[in-house]
Amino acid sequence: MHLPRYLSIERQRQVIEECRALVDGATPAYVPVVRGGGRMHVRMLCLGRHWNGKTYQYEPTRSDFDDRPAPPLPPAFASLAREIAAAAGMSLEPDLCILNYYDAEGRMGLHQDKDESERSIAAGRPVVSVSVGDTARFLFGGLKRKDPVDAIALESGDAFVFGGPARLRYHGVTRILPGTAPRELSFDGRFNLTFREY
Ligand code: SIN
Ligand code: MN
Repeated sequence: MHLPRYLSIERQRQVIEECRALVDGATPAYVPVVRGGGRMHVRMLCLGRHWNGKTYQYEPTRSDFDDRPAPPLPPAFASLAREIAAAAGMSLEPDLCILNYYDAEGRMGLHQDKDESERSIAAGRPVVSVSVGDTARFLFGGLKRKDPVDAIALESGDAFVFGGPARLRYHGVTRILPGTAPRELSFDGRFNLTFREY
């Protein structure tokens, strides 16, 4: 379910402030190098639990990078994700968030979010995605990589929720549209937050 402009400009501003402080904080965002040796095209910071790009598993500390513990999931972020899940008619008890910063060159290949617990995935607990800043061209496909995809513009303040039978649908980001963030945010690039229940 796509919830366009779910967040008011004021709430977008608050999310951006918090994200900025987190990605440049004591445990900063970094560019993961994944299993095959490729660098991702985002700066990533996991909150609550760390997703290890080498093992594709969650862990408490960043053993693929600097061994620092994943910073906690801020309670205000967790309530925002619960609120959005409820607005989409689903329920989520988020215990982790993957926060990604996309610059003008940022992108993410087509993939499934399937590294959470079997229980969570089988129950169809949703992934709640929140975007702020520049617009992204987001692809949402089917349960098989080769299924047809829809291209959706995810704009600043949009939420996107996929749970239940859609929980394992392929998705990705082909490009960022630089300079499309609302001017009053004075922000370049895009933060995307995906909240999940491990
Ligand atoms: C993701 O799939 O993890 C990120 C999606 C997005 O940036 O919209
Ligand atoms: Mn994903």
